[in-house]
Amino acid sequence: MHRRMIATALGMFLVYACAKPAQTESQASPTAGATTDPGTTSSGRLPHPQDAGTVAPPATELQFGDPLPGLTAAERGSFDDGKVHFATAEEVDEGLGPVFNEASCVACHTGPAVGGSTGRLETRFGRLGADGGFDPLIAEGGSLLQDHGIGAVDGFSFGPEAVPADANVVAQRRTTPLFGLGLVDATPDETIRALAARQARSTPEVAGTVAMVPNLVLGQDSVGKFGWKNGNPSLLQFSADAYLNEMGITSPLFPNENCPQGRCDNLNFNPMPGLNDADGADVLAFANFMMFLAPPPRAPQTAQTDAGAQVFNAIGCATCHTPTLVTGPNAVKALDGVEYHPYSDFLLHDMGSLGDGIVQGAAGARQMRTAPLWGLRVASSLLHDGRAETPVQAILAHDGQGRRARECFKTLNSRDREALLAFLDSL
Ligand code: HEC
Ligand code: HEC
Repeated sequence: MHRRMIATALGMFLVYACAKPAQTESQASPTAGATTDPGTTSSGRLPHPQDAGTVAPPATELQFGDPLPGLTAAERGSFDDGKVHFATAEEVDEGLGPVFNEASCVACHTGPAVGGSTGRLETRFGRLGADGGFDPLIAEGGSLLQDHGIGAVDGFSFGPEAVPADANVVAQRRTTPLFGLGLVDATPDETIRALAARQARSTPEVAGTVAMVPNLVLGQDSVGKFGWKNGNPSLLQFSADAYLNEMGITSPLFPNENCPQGRCDNLNFNPMPGLNDADGADVLAFANFMMFLAPPPRAPQTAQTDAGAQVFNAIGCATCHTPTLVTGPNAVKALDGVEYHPYSDFLLHDMGSLGDGIVQGAAGARQMRTAPLWGLRVASSLLHDGRAETPVQAILAHDGQGRRARECFKTLNSRDREALLAFLDSL
């Protein structure tokens, strides 16, 4: 009994010793949000990395792949219609290719339901120059490799792309699940900026960077929130981007076909030149499906998972993996001022050796978007390249700005460690 109390006290001491930045953060946030924060949203609501241990998200009956609760009949109709498009395989005579990765969105985004992930990896490549500059080797079809070609057409045969010999950076990227991303899309840029500003004040050593990327709809830069490197600002733009770059289908936002392996002359043999999704209706349908796709349902919570949420907070995981965000005002009631729990700040962080070496949009070689942890329990592999099979392996790979939290994780006693892992397994 006595022995056990000493062990407990020691465990708490270790957590406390590691906890300082997280403690400062959670103490600083209420004041910052209430008064002096220049980044306060117009509605006055700020996201707050709340004490994840004391405020548990409400239990829910939702299943993976369900639409958001509370959609109108018309919204539900466009979710259903969008889901059909999302799951439809395209043919060459509909514009597929000439080079592509798969013939439908669902080919990669499925499991445990439509919109999820198969864990499929795709390849990016580039060349790091002697001067430290990064060349995405666009002239050789980079940085995204298309691993299928449509094969023989009149007078030519389109094969898959290959990593060119002069590439010296090759990275794998795992398919991310899309559950709940409508809530992320509906979160104001100002909220993400405010999070970055607060991190810069409270925890400068792990402060994230806002990714400013071209917003093709607005015709100006806005906050990138989607993709491993925050390369895209909206679900609509991501849809058009993926339609072109994963499937080879052009649309008004992305009108120019990919040159196979960079050889634009080969496009003279493209059997379907011109705009494939001419009015952008398919792109809109994909975006609608994702916009109305509900977030991953939480697994049942217990005293142990609650304790684990506190450890998560105390050792600094929650600084980047922000438990709670709130959407802005929205014409869709189901997206209007909704509190949700993505466990991400949607900022870029310098992850040191864990970075994938690819410079993309606003993200440098070592910078990655904080991976949202909701739905973690159904992921078949973890990290951008799928190298981790378990959350422990993923945590131990954290480096750069994630190194301190990793080292704190290593110091946890077995009770706190088990609690943290039970918590992660409830997401
Ligand atoms: C060949 C597999 C594949 C296909 C086909 C595919 N995706 Fe993806 N998707 C991925 C991968 C891999 C990522 C992560 C990309 C990255 O950031 O590098 C991703 C990311 C996304 C994201 C960003 C999610 C996030 O976490 O921010 C969206 C949105 C998306 N895909 C939508 C689509 C849509 C819509 C289609 C069909 C037009 C589609 N995808 C087709 C593999 C695929
Ligand atoms: C400095 C910000 C930061 C901190 C602190 C941090 N993480 Fe992460 N985490 C990230 C980023 C960025 C990724 C994505 C890295 C990649 O795959 O390249 C990530 C990925 C993960 C993943 C894999 C998720 C997936 O879907 O692939 C898990 C699990 C995870 N973190 C848990 C934790 C835990 C637990 C802690 C605390 C011990 C923690 N993280 C601390 C930024 C952070």
